[in-house]
Amino acid sequence: MDIATMPRGGFDASWLDRRLQTDRPEFLDRNDIDDRIKRGVIRWLDRMGRVLRDHEHLAGRALPLVSDIAEPRILELGAGHGALSQAVLDMHPTAQVTVTDIDPISVSNIAAGELGRNPRAVVRQVDATDIGAPDRSYDLALFALSFHHLPPAQAARVLAEATRVADRFVVCDIYRPAAAVHVLRLASMLPFALVWPFAHDGLISSLRAYSASAFRALAASADSAITVEFSRLGRNMVVVASRTT
Ligand SMILES: C[S@@+](CC[C@H](N)C(=O)[O-])C[C@H]1O[C@@H](n2cnc3c(N)ncnc32)[C@H](O)[C@@H]1O
Repeated sequence: MDIATMPRGGFDASWLDRRLQTDRPEFLDRNDIDDRIKRGVIRWLDRMGRVLRDHEHLAGRALPLVSDIAEPRILELGAGHGALSQAVLDMHPTAQVTVTDIDPISVSNIAAGELGRNPRAVVRQVDATDIGAPDRSYDLALFALSFHHLPPAQAARVLAEATRVADRFVVCDIYRPAAAVHVLRLASMLPFALVWPFAHDGLISSLRAYSASAFRALAASADSAITVEFSRLGRNMVVVASRTT
């Protein structure tokens, strides 16, 4: 089966689940809009993450994976605002963090802030589908609320790249619920999505979220040596990917 045609719910998705997806881009994916709209969405992501303590919770889930390493080298992909990397540095006294995003304005904003002045942080522009670092350059790579931005062929490429450059790759993304529950979630989001860019992107994110079945198919398509483990973290799903060889 061609991975590029895989539904977001996976090849075994139900009839209804296959209808709960979209190719419509989020504001964050568009270059034809006023950049202030994108910055507003990024600010809200940061704010919501701080209020709900998502950044600390994810750092707390990921850091035990490198507990046996004195100075773990950690790569954050799709950092957006950098708050996850900041949480990692706050929670681990010797971690070295490379903070990256594909978006040059996000990268320059992160570099102009606290992370840009931290001697344990490096800030760079990196495309997660083409990381441009030697094999096993990092002990851990992180990708939060970003995986769904990529269509299946590119998402598989990210799994291949991140597990090539890092021993463990942690993806945290919106949990894709059973189709009937998903309909209710989408209906509750729709009125806000019509007037609020953050909710607009949230609704599209939900439609584009990958299921566990889809993750397994993406990993198999990227490289049969990649294994994936799943857990829940609040309203999100956490996937830990690594290579067996
Ligand atoms: C919804 S934001 C998530 C920001 C932050 N990680 C968070 O948890 O709030 C998605 C981010 O993924 C980035 N992104 C999209 N495609 C990417 C790619 N191919 N490589 C790296 N980053 C990418 C976007 O620029 C954006 O900053």
